Amino acid sequence: EKVVLAYSGGLDTTAIIPWLKENFDYEVICVCIDCGQGEELDGLEERAKFCGAEKLYILDVTDEFCDEYIVPCVQAHAVYENKYLLGTSMARPLIAKKLVEIARKEGAAAICHGATGKGNDQIRFELGIKALAPDLKIIAAWRNEKWTMDSRESEIAYCKAHGIDLPFSADSSYSRDRNLWHISHEGLELEDPANEPNFEHLLVLGVTPEKAPEEGEYITLTFEKGIPASLNGKEMKVSDIIRELNILGGRHGIGIVDIVENRVVGMKSRGVYETPGGTILYEAHQQLEELILDRDTYAVKKDMGNKLAQIVYEGKWFTPLREAVQAFIESTQQYVTGEVKFKLYKGNIIKAGTTSPYSLYNESIASFTTGDLYDHHDAEGFINLFGLSTKVRAMKMQERGEL
Ligand code: ARG
Ligand code: SIN
Repeated sequence: EKVVLAYSGGLDTTAIIPWLKENFDYEVICVCIDCGQGEELDGLEERAKFCGAEKLYILDVTDEFCDEYIVPCVQAHAVYENKYLLGTSMARPLIAKKLVEIARKEGAAAICHGATGKGNDQIRFELGIKALAPDLKIIAAWRNEKWTMDSRESEIAYCKAHGIDLPFSADSSYSRDRNLWHISHEGLELEDPANEPNFEHLLVLGVTPEKAPEEGEYITLTFEKGIPASLNGKEMKVSDIIRELNILGGRHGIGIVDIVENRVVGMKSRGVYETPGGTILYEAHQQLEELILDRDTYAVKKDMGNKLAQIVYEGKWFTPLREAVQAFIESTQQYVTGEVKFKLYKGNIIKAGTTSPYSLYNESIASFTTGDLYDHHDAEGFINLFGLSTKVRAMKMQERGEL
């Protein structure tokens, strides 16, 4: 029988290969899903096979990640607990989907992952697998009774005992997860919310605002029907726009977030996220919608965006609710076309002009000086009716001597 292992090449998932063979007698098919983490994947196949894997698949799903997972979240402005742009959460269902595809192709009986029993990722992987392949067995190595390793040292020792002597370092760094959208950092000094993050040591995608250039930098983004279309006058696919924005945003100290978040499993957890390009993209899309969406749609869409954030964070991507919420969001994007200009400066994204052929902004109505479309006197009757219930209640309170 075969098992498909979600494999990154790191120590944890490497130790799982001999562990699966020893304890389950499975043939191990490793799958490394490239969501744009920018890591060197050369040599990974040799490594996986050297560690006892039958095969290694490397799948580059970066464009699918951008088009099918990131873009809907951008359009929804999906943000978890006011800060987190969901970089890890968005990638997990896609990874689950690809693991299932390979499992089917290989006729595997099980899928194995290396997420811990304390986190959100186990939930996301497993809900994804359950939704797409309810018959497949799931092995969560870290929760399995046969798993005995509880530190990097013990994993290294286990590997050595199984003939795998690779140059893994014993001292642990931050627990990180990277893809094209973001990098997350957890652990070390961050585990105590009383500590300031050691940014020098921690940041990967950019610099702190203090280290950013003294000079601001202008950028221009366009969207067509809610989809990012060009950057600085050049039409590009979404993944290239994000890649480029990461460089620009990183250089100017944009998109660094420090949050104590509520995990699904009940605990609070402290993390620092770098989402330089994503932060700019969210802001730009929002800027454009300010001009284009009518007030009622805007209000409901905001709620839907929060809903989507919750759904994505909780790993419920492959559900009818996510599909319905996404369909709503998509239907609001028809006229989200236009251009946004920003100045990036020391961690700030400063508006430098927004235009759209579908803008509902009407200068002659809004202006303080001009206008025949708007009659100030109309406001009087409007306020009388709009405030009637407030007035009636106050009259009653006055009558009772409570006002
Ligand atoms: N707390 C974030 C989330 O739940 C990031 C998780 C990072 N995962 C990891 N395996 N390092 O989405
Ligand atoms: C893990 O525990 O595997 C990483 C963190 C998380 O899933 O929330």
